[in-house]
Amino acid sequence: MKKILVTRNLLEENEKRILQLFDANLNKEDKLYSPEEVIALSENCDGILSFTTSVLNRETINKLSDSVKIIANYAVGFGNIDIASAKKRGIVVTNTPEVLTDSTADISILLLLGASRRAYEGRKAAELQNWVWSSNLLLGKQMSNQKLGILGMGRIGRAVAQRARGFGMKIHYHNRSKLTSDLEHGAIYHPDIKSLFRQSEFLSINCPATPDTINLLNEETIKYLPDGAVVANAARGDVIDDNAMIKAMKSGKIFALGLDVYNGEPKINEEYLKLNNLFLLPHLGSATKVTRIGMGDRAIDNLQDFFLNKRPKDQVN
Ligand code: GLV
Repeated sequence: MKKILVTRNLLEENEKRILQLFDANLNKEDKLYSPEEVIALSENCDGILSFTTSVLNRETINKLSDSVKIIANYAVGFGNIDIASAKKRGIVVTNTPEVLTDSTADISILLLLGASRRAYEGRKAAELQNWVWSSNLLLGKQMSNQKLGILGMGRIGRAVAQRARGFGMKIHYHNRSKLTSDLEHGAIYHPDIKSLFRQSEFLSINCPATPDTINLLNEETIKYLPDGAVVANAARGDVIDDNAMIKAMKSGKIFALGLDVYNGEPKINEEYLKLNNLFLLPHLGSATKVTRIGMGDRAIDNLQDFFLNKRPKDQVN
């Protein structure tokens, strides 16, 4: 049986399956292993099942034992792994696309609604029980019939578009390449950020974190958005320059922001916490039982294929 280091706790259903197929070194206590611990614990392993919290940068990858041939990441994003260094060492890296599309798109919509309808202030007022209904109590922005800009029109971006159409929103998007019309469903393509942002009364960030997308929302680009825009980020914290965003939220340029992901999470720029026009979640994009089981299954499928000498379906390097 091939030996696999599992760097975080898996749901019971996935645990059962991995134990049938592999000699799995589980992390039942769900400890956050340091890179040194990952290196030591994978010493005699054939593969690693890693999670978004496991940072496998160049230095760590270079110190992994020669026995490690595959890293199956339990996430669609793989910014936690230096895939080029892995490739250089002949280590295959896989991710878990598709299975988390719906749950993550749901969270994008939740962020847009939570931010635009002032859910944070609403919750606080309801808890304090000192509010009085009035015609102007916590007035928000309505999504119906507004323009939604989607930054990153991959599977998740397209699932956000599908949901937003239910609100009567008109979809605009920017992506590395224009989609075919059967995938666009009438969405309007913008070849550059400036032109997308100019239309984005609401903006949903659904692109991966890459060197090209780091700080894509910055002092200059935020200015392109219409005054009073609502922004939601369910992708990666790196896409937003937090200082520029905080400034724009204070000035009213940005009406409200919804965040599920953070630069250096679980840390958050302290200045955000002074703002009321912010709706926050702790990286819950894929956090439903059915999705998490799907992600575990997909990672295990990738390990299984690899050790059967087949190219894993989700190989990314
Ligand atoms: C979650 O953030 C993922 O990339 O799957």
